[in-house]
Amino acid sequence: MNSIFTTKNIKNLKIKNRIVVPPMVCFSFGGQDGFVTEENIHHYEGMARGGSGLIIVEATAVNKKGRLSKDQLGIWDDKYIDGLSKIVEVCHKNDSKVFIQLHHAGLRTSKSINEDTITSSDYDNGKVRARTMTKDEIHSIQQDFLDGAIRAEKAGFDGIEIHGAHSYLLTQFFSSKVNKRTDEYGGSLENRTRIASEIIENIEGKVNPNFIVGIRMGCNENDLETSIAMAKVFEDVGVDYLHVSTGFDNTPINIELPKDFPCNWIVYGGTKVKENVTIPVITVNSIKIKEQIKYLLDNDLVDFVAVGRGQLADHDFVNHIRDENYIDECLSCSPCKWFSDGRNCPRYE
Ligand SMILES: Cc1cc2nc3c(=O)[nH]c(=O)nc-3n(C[C@H](O)[C@H](O)[C@H](O)COP(=O)(O)O)c2cc1C
Repeated sequence: MNSIFTTKNIKNLKIKNRIVVPPMVCFSFGGQDGFVTEENIHHYEGMARGGSGLIIVEATAVNKKGRLSKDQLGIWDDKYIDGLSKIVEVCHKNDSKVFIQLHHAGLRTSKSINEDTITSSDYDNGKVRARTMTKDEIHSIQQDFLDGAIRAEKAGFDGIEIHGAHSYLLTQFFSSKVNKRTDEYGGSLENRTRIASEIIENIEGKVNPNFIVGIRMGCNENDLETSIAMAKVFEDVGVDYLHVSTGFDNTPINIELPKDFPCNWIVYGGTKVKENVTIPVITVNSIKIKEQIKYLLDNDLVDFVAVGRGQLADHDFVNHIRDENYIDECLSCSPCKWFSDGRNCPRYE
């Protein structure tokens, strides 16, 4: 049997195949002030029809003041539950499980949203400045993540993914390049990850035991070895899966890839994390063809493979693999036009 189309559980949740739609913001589709629009619903319906077993809905703001833009989806108030539940409905109707990514941008918050940007400790790289969060602010944002998770459950999502990757708030704590705190939220790895560990623990006491709680994290935070240790911290605290990408920055891990490895260092980092934990691991980045996916799954190197731009370019990516049809490959436009306006993607219909 084709390994791609075997089922796999994340805790008690059965996923029908091994391909995941990773979280991808579609800024131009969102309404002002974070409401789900018809275009968002249509977009996720298309992705779900395409056949992926799991869809992780884009980075959604847990706090109004920590957004990337005004049209980023929001989950900081109960008034968003109704719109989000419509995304859940179209995914479930098409037999895809669906999680939502919970996000705070920290020092990457747009100045048009909030001038008073916050992060783990005072930050100034000449272009971006942010100030140290007080402990009360840390606890308040942890509460925002918890409230977001509870709202996600109310909206019908099968789980949530905590955004602990790609330079956003939580990586600003994980990374010793940024986090210079001297209290219990800085210093050792245990301390730098504490903000997320406490969020995970808080959520687990408040949601249904079958509700999935995962985290996206880097394999280069600041190096592979530390990232593996971080993965184990999250596993020990009870997270249900790990989605391995990049951390605070894109510095590659210092490792030589095996000659026959058909993917890049980020994917390789995911496979190394997988070797060291027992919970399911999703790997991602520039995976575009069936042969790469099969290599990763047939060799049991990961549990799930996320294909982002490949599925934006061809929503039927998974069905086409199943039916052995032609795939409209992502053209790797640089930078991907979806970051600003998804309608500019040459493959957009
Ligand atoms: C348009 C676009 C939006 C993205 N938005 C998010 C996001 O909301 N959250 C996140 O963790 N990653 C985001 N990413 C990163 C993707 O999830 C993924 O890691 C990245 O595109 C690499 O995978 P790919 O080569 O399969 O596209 C985004 C990527 C793209 C192209």
